[in-house]
Amino acid sequence: MSDFVHLLPPYRPHAALSDAERIAWIRADRWLDLDQARLALARLEDLLAYPPRDRMPCLLLYGDTGMGKTKIIRKFLRDHPACFDKGTGVTTMPVVAMQMPAEPVERDVYSELLAALGVPGPLDGAAHRQKEICRSLLRSMGARMLIIDEIHAMLAGSFRQQRIFLNVIRFLANDLRVPLVCAGTDLARQALLTDPQLAERFEALHLRRWTNNGHLTQLLASLATILPLRRPSALETTAIRKRVLELTDGVTVRIFRLIETVAVEAIRSGVECINPDSFDTEELVLPLVAMTRAAERGLQRRGVG
Ligand SMILES: Nc1ncnc2c1ncn2[C@@H]1O[C@H](COP(=O)(O)OP(=O)(O)OP(=O)(O)O)[C@@H](O)[C@H]1O
Ligand SMILES: [Mg+2]
Repeated sequence: MSDFVHLLPPYRPHAALSDAERIAWIRADRWLDLDQARLALARLEDLLAYPPRDRMPCLLLYGDTGMGKTKIIRKFLRDHPACFDKGTGVTTMPVVAMQMPAEPVERDVYSELLAALGVPGPLDGAAHRQKEICRSLLRSMGARMLIIDEIHAMLAGSFRQQRIFLNVIRFLANDLRVPLVCAGTDLARQALLTDPQLAERFEALHLRRWTNNGHLTQLLASLATILPLRRPSALETTAIRKRVLELTDGVTVRIFRLIETVAVEAIRSGVECINPDSFDTEELVLPLVAMTRAAERGLQRRGVG
């Protein structure tokens, strides 16, 4: 029992920590090398290595909320950080990542881009002036890729604003000679498709929800080998897989939160492993969506609604 052979060797010492430390470990933010995420990162690497040419390829990374799009972008940024050269005083930023502004207003897009480039404070001046500054900064900082997250925020704008925003995207994609990567939900994909020229330029990569197949089995099996529980859990059994999908609809963030919740409960209760009963307790605090669905199912079972 003391050597925790059900865990991978680097994770065994964690199982010996105190309850509070183990719970903190379970809840900590970490990167997990999921199949789809790894594929997306490989695609990004490939684009980054693309030699400059007139029409650079562009990528749309799309998937439902909570599927890990922002997580992938953050990981890619960590792999390609900005670098300040003390000798020359020059900062190079191979990958520039920005968020969509709340409204798809051209000026705000450039302000966000300037913020991503580390330019402090809002800049005055017309949009075309900001555009010029962005363009020359991107060049002088050696940017080789521009990423825009939350691209679906453009749908918050009026039809006219959306058209203008698509023009901005088209300008960035054509003019910068760096690959443009956009991330967002499926609605973003549909919005990009309304512009034939952009539809032509963008390759789409879909982060799919988890289904009952080998990938999910592998994910659950590998979680069982890293969670600091003192007894072995058989997480990859058919019953547990089914239950996990029922409770999460296959959305990555919900799967992680669910497993996190049952693992913490396993520590608190002293059971020290996850088993089918872990998913059936009344105290299971789940994300709102899943709870609503569970309640609906309950009502249906009772013949209401
Ligand atoms: N590869 C991963 N490793 C570890 N945790 C992950 C991974 N992918 C997703 N997650 C978990 O899912 C959560 C949501 O991921 P993220 O914020 O990247 O989703 P998103 O697709 O950007 O959603 P939204 O469309 O709402 O912005 C993360 O905070 C993390 O807890
Ligand atoms: Mg996100």
